[in-house]
Parts: sequence; C-alpha cells; structure tokens
Amino acid sequence: MSADAPTFAEVYPGHPEPQFEPLEFIRLPPGETLARAEAFYHEMNARRTTRHFNCDPVPQEVIEWAVQTAGTAPSGAHRQPWRFVAVQDPALKARLREAVEAEEYKTYTGRMPGEWRAALAPLGTDYVKAHLTDAPWVIVVFREKYGLDADGKRTKNYYTVESASIAVGLLIAALHHAGLVTLTHTPNPMGFLSELLGRPKNEEALMVLPVGYPAPDATVPRLARKPLKQIFQVDLGESSAGPVEP
Ligand SMILES: Cc1cc2nc3c(=O)[nH]c(=O)nc-3n(C[C@H](O)[C@H](O)[C@H](O)COP(=O)(O)O)c2cc1C
Repeated sequence: MSADAPTFAEVYPGHPEPQFEPLEFIRLPPGETLARAEAFYHEMNARRTTRHFNCDPVPQEVIEWAVQTAGTAPSGAHRQPWRFVAVQDPALKARLREAVEAEEYKTYTGRMPGEWRAALAPLGTDYVKAHLTDAPWVIVVFREKYGLDADGKRTKNYYTVESASIAVGLLIAALHHAGLVTLTHTPNPMGFLSELLGRPKNEEALMVLPVGYPAPDATVPRLARKPLKQIFQVDLGESSAGPVEP
C-alpha cells in the first residue's frame, strides 16, 4: 500500500473501526478437493425442477435447516435482504393457489407474448398450479428492497435481487441435498403475495418454491444442460481469433 493511502478514519469519518476475527478454514488435500467438486456436480446434476408433488409431510425442522443454509448466502454490504415465508396451512395454500391461478390464467390465455409462449412450449406449463396445494410446504421468498430502522426511516440495501437470488440458489441446493424436490416458480405478476402473507411494503416477492416429495408418476421435460465448453472460458479462450459469435 502506498504511504499516502487514506486511513480508515479518512475513508469512513465518524464510523467505529470494524472488528475482525480469524478465518476458520480447513485446507483439504488437492485430491480431496477435486473429488468433492466432482461429487457435488454429480449430486446437483441429478436435481430437476419438479411440477408434480405428493402430499407426504416434511418436518418443519428440515425446512428450517434449508432456510438457514439459504441465510448463509453472501449479500451486498451484508444486508441479508431476504425473508422466507414457509406456508403449510392448507387453507392458506388454497388461497395462495387461487390467487396465483387467477393471475396465471390471464397470462396463459392472453397477455403472454408469443416469444415467451415459444420458450415455455417445451416445458408444457399451464395456469393450473396444483403443486401449490399438493406440496406440504410452499416457500415464498421476499427480497427486502430497502430496510427500515427503529424509527421507520428507510435504509438503503444493495444488490437485493442478486443477493436474494443467490440465497434461493443455496436453498434449492440444500433442499435437493436433503432428498426433497422443488419448483422455482415465478408467478407473474406477484405483487398480491405481500398482502396475502402479511409482509411489509419494503419487501417484494421474488420466487415461490413448493417443496416436498415427487408424485409417484411425476414426469419432467426432457432437457439437455449446456456442456462445460459452452458455459466456460479460461482467459481469452482456446482461439486467438477473437470473440466467438454467440
Ligand atoms: C428464475 C426462474 C423462474 C422460473 N419460473 C418458473 C415458473 O414460473 N414456472 C415453472 O413451471 N418453472 C419455472 N422455472 C423452472 C425452469 O423452467 C427450470 O428450471 C428449467 O426448465 C430447467 O429445468 P431444471 O430445473 O429441471 O434443470 C423457473 C426457473 C427459474 C430459475
């Protein structure tokens, strides 16, 4: 660092010095690192978005561990701008389904543009959302657009969509690891979810995830995942001929 680098007090005038602690870290032998990376890929590659659930119960504790895992996500300025509302009450799930289907009906029978329709055709989804009442749990993830201090004054949050979406990724991985299935569902629009679930104005619903076990006759669309070479580049890539056409 150069001699004239600004001090903490100069960069953050009036703020207390941050507190640090030693990082807890166990360095693994390289062979074990590789084996774990590969094994985790195989585990995650077996995950599929599932749209057919049965109603077998899942203990709340399992959901709580998965949500705690989601809560380990990194977040912009460590604001942790997420809230997970886990719905299991059958009457509340029924109201949720009714409200979602009312919006989805309008989307599927009218307002969905042709390009979106073409993208969804291979998945064959429709406005009927039986998973919202079949699955024992429906987790509605809210992002906290801004914070509220003790006096109700707004405090700024940072990268809330990115942060909450990373948390959802961890949630999905945790649920899969626990032997459950889920569906990443984005009803559109979903503003009504705040009121239905009694959430404050500074939060906005981001995703809806039914969680449980698959129905015995569950099917999934036949899909291929992009191979590594299509999603990965090291440095400037193999060719020095310049950027490849997308
Ligand atoms: C942000 C996001 C929104 C999604 N929204 C919906 C949705 O509203 N309804 C649905 O049936 N699937 C939805 N999906 C699931 C995708 O269709 C699914 O992940 C994709 O087809 C790949 O299938 P896979 O998850 O089994 O690999 C969504 C996924 C993501 C990541």
